[in-house]
Amino acid sequence: MNNLLKACIFDLDGVLVDTAVYHYMAWKRLALKLGFDFTQEQNEGLKGISRMQSLEILLAEGGLVFDEAAKLKLADKKNRWYCEYIEKMTADEILPGAASLLKELKSKGIKTALGSASKNAETILRNTNLLSQFDVIVDGNNITKAKPDPQVFLLAAGQLKVKPEECVVFEDARAGIAAAVKAGMHSVGIGNPAWLNQADIVVPALKDISIDTLNNLFHTKGTSYETVY
Ligand code: BG6
Ligand code: MG
Repeated sequence: MNNLLKACIFDLDGVLVDTAVYHYMAWKRLALKLGFDFTQEQNEGLKGISRMQSLEILLAEGGLVFDEAAKLKLADKKNRWYCEYIEKMTADEILPGAASLLKELKSKGIKTALGSASKNAETILRNTNLLSQFDVIVDGNNITKAKPDPQVFLLAAGQLKVKPEECVVFEDARAGIAAAVKAGMHSVGIGNPAWLNQADIVVPALKDISIDTLNNLFHTKGTSYETVY
């Protein structure tokens, strides 16, 4: 018998809320303080990447080298600025379709988890009133391996007590889709289909996905790469 949809696992930044802009503001502020500019285009490469890996990329762009202790201080500085920005977030910053999809899943008995690399996930979920919508939260504080490692999603499935093949992952980062594939889960890419071509299906935003579409992923044999635009 085919597996059925039992759980949805959501990435946070860029899927439920548009925090990418705040990450960018804080990284750019750090770059300018260090004496170089950091463009929005360069920032694209940081999506889904952990804080320390992001710092490594930023410093490489600026041609700067620091020892470990100095790098930790820089990452901390960036995070303090980022926290100032997200502290002011409200439910108005939830991306289109996210709140209604979470509610609908709950009403249909489909479990929900957060699977994020961010160590600030709970603050963001609390400030946007999304915290109570999740059965399980796995974030940057609970994992040792960053996406594309599947650890974050496998931990979430384990805590939800469902099998990987009964889950759908929602992700806007290429590394996140790769993690879902490695976990043996179905995946919905949010954003650019060319960039997210490992996903089962790619949509512009959560508002463009229905539970029927999700259920159909479980009845399609083989790779079902498809774009809905
Ligand atoms: C991911 C973001 O969700 O979390 C990355 O896409 C970010 O841009 C990473 O670097 C870690 O977030 P934080 O909040 O722990 O610095
Ligand atoms: Mg993301």
